[in-house]
Amino acid sequence: MRDKEHAVEDDGERRAPLAMDAAEFRALGHRLVDQVAALLESIPQRPVTRDESPSAVREALGLDGPLPEAGAAPGPFLERTAQLLFDHSLFNAHPRFFGYITAPPAPIGVLGDLLAAAVNANVGAWTLSPAATEIEAQTVRWIAALIGYPTDCGGLLVSGGNMANLVCFAAARAAKAGWNVRERGVGTGPAMRVYASLETHTWIQKAADLAGLGTASIRWIPTDARLRMDAAALWRRMDEDAAAGDVPCMVVGTAGSVSTGAIDPLREIAALCRERGVWFHVDGAYGGFAAAAPEAPDDLRALTVADSVAVDPHKWLYAPLEAGCALVRDPEALRAAFAYHPPYYHWNERATNYVDYGPQNSRGFRALKVWLALRHAGAAAYRRMIGDDIRLAQTMAAAVEAHPDLELATQELSITTFRFVPRALRAKIGDASVEAHLDALNRELLDRLQRGGELFVSNAVVGGRYLLRACIVNFHTTRADVEAVPEIVARTGRAIDAEMRPSV
Ligand SMILES: Cc1ncc(COP(=O)(O)O)c(C=O)c1O
Repeated sequence: MRDKEHAVEDDGERRAPLAMDAAEFRALGHRLVDQVAALLESIPQRPVTRDESPSAVREALGLDGPLPEAGAAPGPFLERTAQLLFDHSLFNAHPRFFGYITAPPAPIGVLGDLLAAAVNANVGAWTLSPAATEIEAQTVRWIAALIGYPTDCGGLLVSGGNMANLVCFAAARAAKAGWNVRERGVGTGPAMRVYASLETHTWIQKAADLAGLGTASIRWIPTDARLRMDAAALWRRMDEDAAAGDVPCMVVGTAGSVSTGAIDPLREIAALCRERGVWFHVDGAYGGFAAAAPEAPDDLRALTVADSVAVDPHKWLYAPLEAGCALVRDPEALRAAFAYHPPYYHWNERATNYVDYGPQNSRGFRALKVWLALRHAGAAAYRRMIGDDIRLAQTMAAAVEAHPDLELATQELSITTFRFVPRALRAKIGDASVEAHLDALNRELLDRLQRGGELFVSNAVVGGRYLLRACIVNFHTTRADVEAVPEIVARTGRAIDAEMRPSV
């Protein structure tokens, strides 16, 4: 008799504990899909998030037990896990979720992830993923087409905006070093410099660090009153560095800054880069897809002339996390930064092998959920949804401006920033002690709003002032949702002010 734990039974069949027959998979899958469908329908009626402590969440989920030695029947724990996730998660699909830049998942994308996991294509090499590689290639072309970038560019799907920017950074480094930087590293040549506005997202520090340039290589260029890069200051800084014998390698223009949605003067920066032979990269992780909207400002459309662009389908294409996309005008620049040909791989070199275009080796089929969503909605509907998000943000800004207890700070793309200012303090704005009180008040207000569950906003600091920040990349949000924001904020702010005011 064979041991029951042995992999091969007496009849020669292998019945692995993780294997599941079709009937069981179907039953579990149907039950799970029913639960997910009910969740998606119920999100608007749920709080955005619950005010729970980390230990309460751990306790509710029963996460202090040991690694189970023996397995268990999946039905009960799968159903229970779904329920627990539904009861202890923050829902960025909530129509009143306005935090950071996080979109709801397109339902077709949710199904796409299931399908992708079932096929489990390894999209590192064409041979391992014939259909998936071709779908990813078309997804890259469609993304480029949507924002007006050349569709014969190189590109690939990555985990998000940080990675998309990092991939482009590596391409720029290899292209502009003037020596074989992959072989010799950055220490052997003149210092390489990268230029970015003070409003640039923190990916730039990670990239400069990981690429070996170091964060001191970043030249932080000041911004104008609208938080856009000051092109004249950029020019001057590049001149200084060139005179010192440094290599101005790359300028980063931001197409929609993380704090306020500011768009750098991309056309002007592009012209300067062309003149100096410097790589022009656009971080369009947030705002890049807004270039598709008919009302997009000309500066945003200018991303089409960049050497590389990072966009983020898990933001304004509403793809489920994770999905970023790096686009590089010259596909060979990506290969020059990433391709190696080890002896243990035998790929079809006439086909696209994504392992040659980015840092990952084994790669999942992230493109599928994006491709399905583009097919489901179509480009025209995407343009409309993005335009609607922008218009709703403008509506919110108008409602904030009209509210006697709120002060509007900025409105760009779909980001609105503002703060609570008690009526009695309006006349004293700018006074140092009042500003300190307003900062503390709005900090506490943010915390209270985030824990309250009625809506979710995040924060920005502009001109030294602590602001609330609402960003709409959410096709569930309606006019009623944005019009409800000012009074919810003001009501909560008044309560906090009453508690804090004696200290002013
Ligand atoms: C302008 C900008 N760049 C990069 C990122 C990073 O994107 P991700 O969080 O997808 O890595 C963000 C995120 O909000 C962003 O707004």
